[in-house]
Amino acid sequence: MSTAIPTTSRAVRYHATGKPEAVLHFEETALAPLGDSDALVALEAAVIHPSDLGMIAGTYGRLRPLPAVAGREGIGRVVKVGAGVTWLHVGDRVRMPEDEGVWRESVIARAGSLRHVPCDIPAEIAVMSFINPPTALLLLKNFVDLQHGDWVIQNAANSAVGECVIQLAKARGLRTVNLVRSPEKHAARLTAFGADLVLADDKDALKTIQAALGKNIAPRLALNSIGGTSAVTLLRALGQDGVLVTFGGMTGDLVRFPTREFIFNNITCRGFWMDRWARTASEDELSTVFAEVYASLRSGVMKVAVDSTYPLEDYAAAIARAAAYGRNGKVLFKGKDR
Ligand SMILES: NC(=O)c1ccc[n+]([C@@H]2O[C@H](COP(=O)([O-])OP(=O)(O)OC[C@H]3O[C@@H](n4cnc5c(N)ncnc54)[C@H](OP(=O)(O)O)[C@@H]3O)[C@@H](O)[C@H]2O)c1
Repeated sequence: MSTAIPTTSRAVRYHATGKPEAVLHFEETALAPLGDSDALVALEAAVIHPSDLGMIAGTYGRLRPLPAVAGREGIGRVVKVGAGVTWLHVGDRVRMPEDEGVWRESVIARAGSLRHVPCDIPAEIAVMSFINPPTALLLLKNFVDLQHGDWVIQNAANSAVGECVIQLAKARGLRTVNLVRSPEKHAARLTAFGADLVLADDKDALKTIQAALGKNIAPRLALNSIGGTSAVTLLRALGQDGVLVTFGGMTGDLVRFPTREFIFNNITCRGFWMDRWARTASEDELSTVFAEVYASLRSGVMKVAVDSTYPLEDYAAAIARAAAYGRNGKVLFKGKDR
């Protein structure tokens, strides 16, 4: 029995940028006809990221032409392929094409543009493999030639990226100082992941870090996804020739450089954007990084947490949950048949 090809798909869309609660709608969108080199893909799962909300708000580094379907990270199953498609088969799992927006029930895409995703990893884990785990991996690999025993410091350590950093650092023999807003809530979990120190990101943070590390130890790499005073704490905690990499700005506050440390400790400040890395990396680099991510997820070296799962039509509740304080893991959308 052949699968009927739908002509429309429901999706979470916005026609103007703004606050998600004001601009998002769950609506019917037209699907292009299935061409000979196309595949029809049905959503299995998708993730809600801070960057999705930035894109909807119009503040992210790359915006979509409007109207746009929201969401950047999702996986789906191939439901039907065009007559000329030989390398992709019905049932294969692929990454939902990011530029089309992934908070949608289904999509028709050029089969050649779709990236295979291993089926032996559960969907709710595999769906989180494209943004945060590779970001954590690249942050640890691409900026400082870290040696066994070196210290890395980060803020928002209980974020999805932060938890990946802790686990990958541990597996590499690195040590981590982890700043969080609520250590009493996160310390046990982060310690179980391999965190060496979990400390409060408050006005006394620098003193606490220095007291915990002692005079002769200072981190070589600092990872900042907050900004403002939290980033200043990281910069001050770094040792000689330390590097601070900013890859997120959860508070929206400026990253400022403390002049003394900047000059006397020869600190370098860099930025990292996974989106740019993925668009400029060679196929070899992409395959190597994703192979390492999948291996770490399969072996349990890196665990990623799911807070809750919603159907697409409950997008408003899902986004409210994603923005809520005290969440444990990512909020996901699930496809219709899951
Ligand atoms: N540049 C890149 O390529 C790239 C790639 C991936 C992620 N990122 C960025 O990395 C950051 C973390 O992403 P994620 O997906 O891992 O995040 P996530 O799991 O959603 O966690 C968000 C983190 O931010 C903290 N936070 C939220 N609002 C805050 C505030 N006002 N002040 C201080 N802390 C606050 C949360 O702390 P509580 O639990 O205390 O609320 C939590 O630790 C985001 O900024 C994201 O955009 C960037």
